[in-house]
Amino acid sequence: MSKISAVFRPMRPSDAEVIAGLDREIFGSSIGKDALINEIRLNPLAHYFVLQEQETLEILGHIGLWIDEENAQILNFYVKPPQQGKGYGKLIIESTIEYLYLHGVKNATLEVRPSNKTAFALYTKYGFKVVTTRDNYYDNGEEAYLMLKKL
Ligand SMILES: CC(C)(COP(=O)(O)OP(=O)(O)OC[C@H]1O[C@@H](n2cnc3c(N)ncnc32)[C@H](O)[C@@H]1OP(=O)(O)O)[C@@H](O)C(=O)NCCC(=O)NCCS
Repeated sequence: MSKISAVFRPMRPSDAEVIAGLDREIFGSSIGKDALINEIRLNPLAHYFVLQEQETLEILGHIGLWIDEENAQILNFYVKPPQQGKGYGKLIIESTIEYLYLHGVKNATLEVRPSNKTAFALYTKYGFKVVTTRDNYYDNGEEAYLMLKKL
């Protein structure tokens, strides 16, 4: 793995345009810049982060969660395509798990496509387990795995 000099920090309103662009590039859609800013500013459940390269300030990745007392839901998670496969995904998940521990979260859930082998392998590595499947979850009719990690 290449040397990592990146910081995991809360997302700021000034990141929203970049994040909305990456959402669209990676998933084909985004809630959009304004909705992201509203989430950060107004939604007490929203805990959004970015991974940022320390020298170039490039946004390398993003994770968005809702935390409601002991329950956290991972809504959005990715590493920018040219930066994938360098360990940044692991860094984001490790940083997130540490954050969840500090917040007293007991259960963390997420949905993932069974065909997304990279994400599935990553989640499994960090202790997420398949609880059930959700039929017709994605636009193309693909089912989702609901995965849970007990902290
Ligand atoms: C899933 C994603 C976040 C992983 O981030 P990443 O920075 O590429 O992953 P890392 O380099 O940290 O690798 C983490 C682990 O993923 C798995 N992995 C990485 N590349 C893989 C590949 N090509 N095939 C299978 N597993 C792979 C491995 O378990 C790896 O751990 P290891 O190196 O100890 O074996 C990233 O690929 C991504 O953004 N994908 C597109 C968006 C997405 O699918 N998001 C998740 C939606 S649920």
